[in-house]
Amino acid sequence: MPIVTMNLKRNLSQQVEQALKAAGAQNSPAIIRQSGKPEYGHYQANGIMGAAKKLGKNPLELAQQTLKTLVDNIGDSATFEIAGPGFINVTFSRKFITDCLTEMANDKRFGVIAQSRQKVVVDYSSPNLAKEMHIGHLRSTAIGDANVRIMEFLGHHVIRANHVGDWGAQFGSLLAYMDKLESEGKPLATELKDLEVFYQRASEMFKTEANFAKKAREFVVRLQSGDEKCLELWKRFISESIKHCQAIYDLLDISLSTTDVKPESAYNGELNDIIILLEAAGLIELSDGAKCVFLPEFVGKDDEPLPAIIQKSDGGFPYIATDLAAVQFRAQKLAAHRAIYFVDGRQSLHFAQLFAIARAAGFIAEDQEFRHVPFGSINNKDGKPYKTREGGAVKLATVAEEAINRAKSLISDKNAQLSDAKKEKIARIVGIGAIKYAELSKNRTTDYIFDWDTMLSFEGNTAPYLQYAYTRIVSIFRHASITLDPADGHFDLDEPTELALALKLLQYPEAVENVTEDFQANILCNYLFELAGLFSAFYENCPVLKADESKRSSRLKLCGLSGRVLQHGLGLLGISTVEQM
Ligand code: ARG
Repeated sequence: MPIVTMNLKRNLSQQVEQALKAAGAQNSPAIIRQSGKPEYGHYQANGIMGAAKKLGKNPLELAQQTLKTLVDNIGDSATFEIAGPGFINVTFSRKFITDCLTEMANDKRFGVIAQSRQKVVVDYSSPNLAKEMHIGHLRSTAIGDANVRIMEFLGHHVIRANHVGDWGAQFGSLLAYMDKLESEGKPLATELKDLEVFYQRASEMFKTEANFAKKAREFVVRLQSGDEKCLELWKRFISESIKHCQAIYDLLDISLSTTDVKPESAYNGELNDIIILLEAAGLIELSDGAKCVFLPEFVGKDDEPLPAIIQKSDGGFPYIATDLAAVQFRAQKLAAHRAIYFVDGRQSLHFAQLFAIARAAGFIAEDQEFRHVPFGSINNKDGKPYKTREGGAVKLATVAEEAINRAKSLISDKNAQLSDAKKEKIARIVGIGAIKYAELSKNRTTDYIFDWDTMLSFEGNTAPYLQYAYTRIVSIFRHASITLDPADGHFDLDEPTELALALKLLQYPEAVENVTEDFQANILCNYLFELAGLFSAFYENCPVLKADESKRSSRLKLCGLSGRVLQHGLGLLGISTVEQM
């Protein structure tokens, strides 16, 4: 049986597994590594040693048996050689690589196979609405959005859940301030235009005016008891605040819309039932008047049991109560196979307790996966949290604006003759791409340094570098006035840099699939960076437009596919491309 699709590594591992099975080793994973120089199509199968051990067989013998089956089955695609007792070296034939690449070029999905469809709730961005979105929100928003796009492309039914914080004590002073403005006859609509100033004034008054602070506290109680006037003010505020978030999502090209917002307050009606269910499950214990859950796996300092407070002694419901209601909704009403929460690592304990309690209460079934995907924080060059000079949080809107402005001056330096409108458009795409890519290209679990110069550089693993690589490919076609249909021509690969590029292209499906294993978008970033590097090497070594007719068409085809894969991969990360920069 020949290898039928173009994902070389996966196909090879399936073939090796089949061959192992034929030799009696059931369920033995074949571990395939790329080996040697990339241009030669060398791979090595490493799972044989383990399989031999399990079988109690001599590894060399098993390797020989496996090799024989591989030769029988796919000997026309590759050559095989035993390398030491448990290893088989595999070298794909040039013809086979070319066939695979042709198949990839003709496939709209570039060889990425849809996975078995699951319903996945993705909780991301989820800012608190009592503050303007700040730079800290960039991580959850950008990383969550890239993963959402990739999961959708892999065929899943993704439900975006923007679990915004719209309830709680923080709203007291905002409502009191709105009330004050209204009673002074000031038009609220105008006052709410600049939310940041609004927040600052309200919190300033809370700190300095005792009467105001008292009012603010009363407003919390009134809000929670459903006072009409108070609810009306609150609704106006929330809707203004959501508009502000949406404007930022649009500016950042984040695929969230207002219909994805399911705020904390939406779960208010369920909170009493949550307590009843937890009580029925025997999980609630009273501690200083508060309703708590103690689970044996959570212990604090000195091995003290660590409670999760579900209802405070004053009757109020904290963050986790709402989250329990949201888990119940996602697991039972939505019947999600999986729920993935992209939230700062500082909330790890919260999520560990949340999921453990929800499981103990039976909200989540055995086969449902609920998972917190944490990440580190954003620091400045000194390794301290990235703040304004005054020590405040940097507004996300300001970061986006600055990115666009900086990109604009870079573009103007690079390509002065572009029209202003073009510069503007390109600057937006390059600036926004740069800040998002800076997030995505790092291992998400580590803190990262926010540095304008690095992220906007045209060299290194950055969005501008990849976007620029894309424009270079586009310009080859533009200069020659060629439009290429992906199906046109045929590949004829023989230069080492051509083969290295071809093999890299064939690894695209693997890179995309690997991202969602542990939600590491940097895998795709690294892949695209390497692809762009191999493209450059190819382009430097192999003339394209000046090549002989036979080579020219193959090389143009290689350029075309490289460009399309770069654009597609960036698109999965939520980053656009431009034709010129
Ligand atoms: N609003 C929270 C915050 O800003 C994040 C919410 C994350 N999602 C959740 N279901 N708890 O910290």
